[in-house]
Amino acid sequence: MTPPTANALADDTGAAAVAEGTRPAIDIQGLRKVYNGTSAVDGIDLAIPSGEFFGLLGPNGAGKTTTLRMLLGLTPIDAGSVRVLGMPIPEQEREIRARLGVVPQFDTLDPDFTVEENLLTYASYFGLSGPALTRRIEELLELANLETRRRARIDTLSGGMKRRLTLARALINGPEVVILDEPTTGLDPQARHHLWRQLRRLRERGVTLVLTTHYMEEAEELCDRVAIIDAGRIIACDSPRALIAEHVEPWVISLSAASARRFIADPATLPARMLEIADSWLIYTADPAAVRAELESAGLAHSTRAANLEDVFLRLTGHDLRE
Ligand SMILES: Nc1ncnc2c1ncn2[C@@H]1O[C@H](COP(=O)(O)OP(=O)(O)OP(=O)(O)O)[C@@H](O)[C@H]1O
Ligand SMILES: [Mg+2]
Repeated sequence: MTPPTANALADDTGAAAVAEGTRPAIDIQGLRKVYNGTSAVDGIDLAIPSGEFFGLLGPNGAGKTTTLRMLLGLTPIDAGSVRVLGMPIPEQEREIRARLGVVPQFDTLDPDFTVEENLLTYASYFGLSGPALTRRIEELLELANLETRRRARIDTLSGGMKRRLTLARALINGPEVVILDEPTTGLDPQARHHLWRQLRRLRERGVTLVLTTHYMEEAEELCDRVAIIDAGRIIACDSPRALIAEHVEPWVISLSAASARRFIADPATLPARMLEIADSWLIYTADPAAVRAELESAGLAHSTRAANLEDVFLRLTGHDLRE
């Protein structure tokens, strides 16, 4: 894949406007949404400063998309308030929309149009036209690495190409805030890294980014702060590093289920917190040498790694043996 030019779109993103004050780019208070008597979003408070790269993590059905949709004015708010760039939803929805970019969870590209026509149509919603738009579309096609597919119909694109085009489309109005709902789901590793690079560039220009993802390493790699939400509530919110330090032991030793059964013949004598994941077991410990010595004396194969955000996620949204 050819990397885009370093200064693609640098001239007219909203970065200058973002720097105008210290108020949060996004301010959510007491946000609620109820579907059929069940709270999909159950009282979320969140302030995202301008220029932050923020991640919203949580299991399927946790309420991430519903939260983002309320932020965009696409789903009516049942209770609470949302302000974006200082303006309230839904009263100033139109003004907000003009300064926002969106990558929805499911692609909403128009299948009857080509790649280029999709960008042109979307630009027309913002009243963009003329030579500046022509230049911008060239930049965006380059950024999405779709220059050679400009006349291709959407249904002839691969899933990854559609995701890239959707990101390009989201940037057409030079947004100050970009909301991305699982932008990398279904992308191959190369395409994912390509997209990460684009997102980092936006971050460097002062654009505020809000991302949901099920890839914990992606959130750890990109986000300044993440919130973990479960059943419509924020259960933890901090930098990935701080969450790891606060919620999990620093080391994780993994072993096969068969080895684990031999190791924990007597569960009452567990030497550390353990978690069963599919066919393997994870042992969380601050003293990996002691655990490894026990495993080695029992002749059990194992491997050790540093704890990461996925361990925090499992701890906070799942269950381990002792809980
Ligand atoms: N339009 C709707 N009508 C009824 N229930 C809905 C609607 N949209 C969402 N829900 C419910 O609200 C809850 C939260 O859904 P939401 O799509 O926000 O989850 P999510 O965190 O984005 O999950 P995923 O990771 O699977 O995308 C779920 O229980 C879902 O079934
Ligand atoms: Mg979702």
